Amino acid sequence: MFYDVPFVSSPEMVVRRMLKLAQVKPGEIVYDLGAGDGRILFIAAREFGARAVGVEIRHNLVEQIKIKINKYGLNGKVRIIEGNFFDVDISEADVVTMYLLTSVNERLKPKLERELKNGVRIVSHDFEVPGWNPVRVDVVPDIWTTHKIYLYVK
Ligand SMILES: C[S@@+](CC[C@H](N)C(=O)[O-])C[C@H]1O[C@@H](n2cnc3c(N)ncnc32)[C@H](O)[C@@H]1O
Repeated sequence: MFYDVPFVSSPEMVVRRMLKLAQVKPGEIVYDLGAGDGRILFIAAREFGARAVGVEIRHNLVEQIKIKINKYGLNGKVRIIEGNFFDVDISEADVVTMYLLTSVNERLKPKLERELKNGVRIVSHDFEVPGWNPVRVDVVPDIWTTHKIYLYVK
């Protein structure tokens, strides 16, 4: 099966910076497009008090996230949708997180512009959304590399 993006996790300290940069508040709805192992969802819910929704296409990752939701007692706080993020309604989001590819962000752009409310914050790890002006770009040093976090406000 073809997937748009490989599975690579954002380091947890980058996740915290992304959510902090987006000023996630308790009760807000955070969507992670391509949820991977769900770390953004769990940190958003446990540390920021958000309601987190992930969309993930790889079945084995979805199953792992479901197990963790039960293990951490986060039913009602974290939800995972198995499917293609191009097909999922994201209009309820207050914050959208992404760690994809510039080419995929470009393809997602019309959907984000169409579906998201005004004022929604979009944070993208390492890959910009072509043609959008970031409100802020943070550079996060890591052991072997640096990470960039792009913040956009619709
Ligand atoms: C680079 S990983 C990022 C994981 C997580 N968001 C993080 O930052 O740690 C990208 C994820 O997107 C998923 N993915 C790729 N194409 C997708 C699609 N069209 N719909 C839903 N998920 C997709 C992959 O399976 C992978 O788990």
